[in-house]
Amino acid sequence: MRSHSVAHRFKTASDFLYLCGVHVSEACLLIAGSKSYFLSDSIEATALWEDVNILMDDDRLKLAGMELRPFYQLKEIISDHMKEFDRVAFPIGSNEALDRLVLEQVSFTNRSRRRFTSTPLALCDSRMLIGQLRHVKEADEICLMKEAAQRTSRVYRKLFQECLEGRQERDVADFLESEFMKAGMSWTAYETIVGSGDRATTLHARATSRVLRSGEAVLIDAAGEWQGYCADITRVIPVDAVFGKMHRQVYDIVLNAQEQTINAVRPGITLRYLHEMSQELLLEGLSRYRIGGDIKELMPHGTSHWIGMDVHDPSAYVDEAGRPLQLQEGMSFTIEPGLYFREKTSAYYGIGVRIEDDVVVTGEGCEVLSSAPKQLEEIESLRSQLNKNLDRH
Ligand code: GLY
Ligand code: MN
Ligand code: MN
Repeated sequence: MRSHSVAHRFKTASDFLYLCGVHVSEACLLIAGSKSYFLSDSIEATALWEDVNILMDDDRLKLAGMELRPFYQLKEIISDHMKEFDRVAFPIGSNEALDRLVLEQVSFTNRSRRRFTSTPLALCDSRMLIGQLRHVKEADEICLMKEAAQRTSRVYRKLFQECLEGRQERDVADFLESEFMKAGMSWTAYETIVGSGDRATTLHARATSRVLRSGEAVLIDAAGEWQGYCADITRVIPVDAVFGKMHRQVYDIVLNAQEQTINAVRPGITLRYLHEMSQELLLEGLSRYRIGGDIKELMPHGTSHWIGMDVHDPSAYVDEAGRPLQLQEGMSFTIEPGLYFREKTSAYYGIGVRIEDDVVVTGEGCEVLSSAPKQLEEIESLRSQLNKNLDRH
C-alpha cells in the first residue's frame, strides 16, 4: 500500500509477465513439467471496483494451453504434483503465505519420500532460473526494447528544444513524463531523475522545486516503459545554448569514454572488462585536461547493468564458479560512465556528468538502442535554435 487504503500503481511482476504475457494482479502461475496452471480468484468475475485482477478476452487467448483454476486449489495442485519431481522452484521470501504453503508441502513430501529415496526435494529460487531465461533477449524482445529506447530518445530531442531557464526541476520531470505518456508508453521505467546545478553530483537526484539558472547544466536520467520493456537514458543539457568551459571539458571526457566503451562491446568479453576500460578512459581524459581526483570518488558507480523488463534486469553477473559472465549475442545492458565533482575544494566542484545508452550484443559488436542527441555540437545546435526562436518572438 502507498498510504492507508491506497495502493501503489500496479506493475505486473516481470517474471510472471515474461512467462504469461498478461497483466493480472493476484494471480499465480504453476508449472509442473509440461502442465501449466493459471490460478486466480477472479477468473469468472466481472469488475465492480477495479479491473487489474480480471482476465480480459485477450488474456484468455494468451493463456491458451494453460489450465485456469480458482486460487483456493493452489495447495491441492502443489501437493498432487510435488511427488513427481526432484526440484521445486519458487520466489523464496517474496510472499510469506506462499513460503509457508510451499515449505509445508515440501516437508510433507520429504517425509513420505524418505521411505523410497534418500534424496530430499531440492529447493531453488525461481528468480534465478527465469533470470537465466530472460538474460538472452529474443528478436521480438529486442524490438520492444528498441521501441522503448527510441520513443524515449524522441522525447529527449523535444526537451532539448525547450527553454529551461527559470523553470523548476519538477517542470522538467513533468514535461518528460507527460511526453512519455503521449508517446504511448505505459509509465516511466523508474523514478525520473533531474539534478540541476550541483545537484547533478547526486547520482539519483529527485526533481525538486529548484529553479534552473543560466550558466548551469542539468543532469536528466529518465525513460519510459514500452509493453513491459524498459529504456534507461541519461543526458546532460546546458540551460543556455552552450556549455560552460569546465562543463564542456568534463562532458568531452565522459562522452569519449562512453563511445569507446560502446565500440569495444563484443561477444566473449565481460561487463567487468568494460567497466575497467571505461575507468581507464576517464583517467586518460582527466589527465589530458590536467584535472586531479580519485577515480573511485569521481565515478562511484558501475558502468553497466543488465536491462530488459526491469530497468536493472535481475540476471546473474557471474557464472556458477563466480567468474564474470561472458557476453553473448542478445544480452542487453547500459553503458553509463560518469564523473561527479563533489569535493568542495575542486575547481570543478558541482559538475556532474553521466551519459547513458542501452545496447544489445550482436554477432560482432553491439547495437545501440537509444539515440537521444549526445554530441556536443548537436546539443548546442538544438539549444541555440531554441534561443533564436525565442529571440524572434
Ligand atoms: N536510472 C537508474 C540507473 O541508471 O541505473
Ligand atoms: Mn542505468
Ligand atoms: Mn539511468
